[in-house]
Amino acid sequence: MGGKILSIAAHVPEKILTNEDLEKMVDTSDEWITTRTGIKERHITKDNEYTSTLATEAAKKALDRAGISPMDLDMIVVASATHDYWFPATACLVQANIGAENAACFDIEAACPGFVYTLEIARGFLSIPNYNNILVIGAETLTKITDYTDRGTCVLFGDGAGAAVITKSDEEHFLGSYLKGNGKLGDLLIMPAGGTRKRCSEESIKNREHFIKMQGREVFKHAVVGMQEAAIKALENAGISPSEVDWLVAHQANKRIIDATRKKLGLPEEKVYINIDKYGNTSSASIPIALNEMYEKGLLKEGQIIVLDAFGAGFIYGAIVIKW
Ligand code: UT7
Repeated sequence: MGGKILSIAAHVPEKILTNEDLEKMVDTSDEWITTRTGIKERHITKDNEYTSTLATEAAKKALDRAGISPMDLDMIVVASATHDYWFPATACLVQANIGAENAACFDIEAACPGFVYTLEIARGFLSIPNYNNILVIGAETLTKITDYTDRGTCVLFGDGAGAAVITKSDEEHFLGSYLKGNGKLGDLLIMPAGGTRKRCSEESIKNREHFIKMQGREVFKHAVVGMQEAAIKALENAGISPSEVDWLVAHQANKRIIDATRKKLGLPEEKVYINIDKYGNTSSASIPIALNEMYEKGLLKEGQIIVLDAFGAGFIYGAIVIKW
């Protein structure tokens, strides 16, 4: 007995912010953003669109594609760094929106690898008899915590959500994984205020501490090493060689980081899916948004070996090897 992804779906807000738009807001250029990151545009929420709004739309599509009713869900897990509230959990808001009255609900905060972490959690729950259908969601509204006066970060982030229904199956489709943390380096990528340590105050607002602060160059170096390590170890744990991999679907933070991971695994460019140009960095949503696009383009074929690989704030990183 094992588990598999029964369906995949995504939802992004309609509004688009292009590199040209950003040129008018900060001292940057389309040329700099494109060559340093691979990003051309990103989707951004309006004031009345929230993480739960995007998550709910992705969830509805995922249920539709899975051909199951919301009442068939035993659990909803939302991975996000930008939950609607501290509490209640965004998973509870999604539950109410879709009418999944039989579901257990909770959130996790695992930054950009959030979707990889939720998949691993869901896979674990599937081994317990009463959990059969689990909805896992990666959803973010990062632009709500982005400082549009900081050119070092504001060009990077976008909003979106991806959702998958995970279900029991006779054959195991979750072949192996590797999850890791390095908490000593948390300060390099942090939202300093708004938690219990540094509560919201006039000073924290004045210091713009309710926004993402990132030492990009340092994060970059660790991201390259972490993504490579995660992919290699997850493949080892799965007993699969890189030459057997059909797709590397990596967290879309920077095209150069993905290229470095691909090269380390010895994969050709056509085995790597890249869509950072259209969405920017959507943290926990980036992998399911990519998987959804691949599904809609007919690129995902039964039996393919796919490595999902991500790195983010914490630092935490991880990869999971799945059979489609
Ligand atoms: O999602 C989870 C984890 N996040 C990541 O993995 C992100 C990792 N980091 C990165 O992707 C890259 O470090 C960035 C894209 C953020 C930055 O690229 P970089 O090649 O590391 O640039 P840098 O920070 O070293 O900056 C190079 C130069 C600097 O100017 P000087 O000091 O050389 O004169 C920056 O001030 O580029 C300047 N710069 C910009 N110029 C135009 C920084 N941001 C911009 C900008 N437009 N938006």
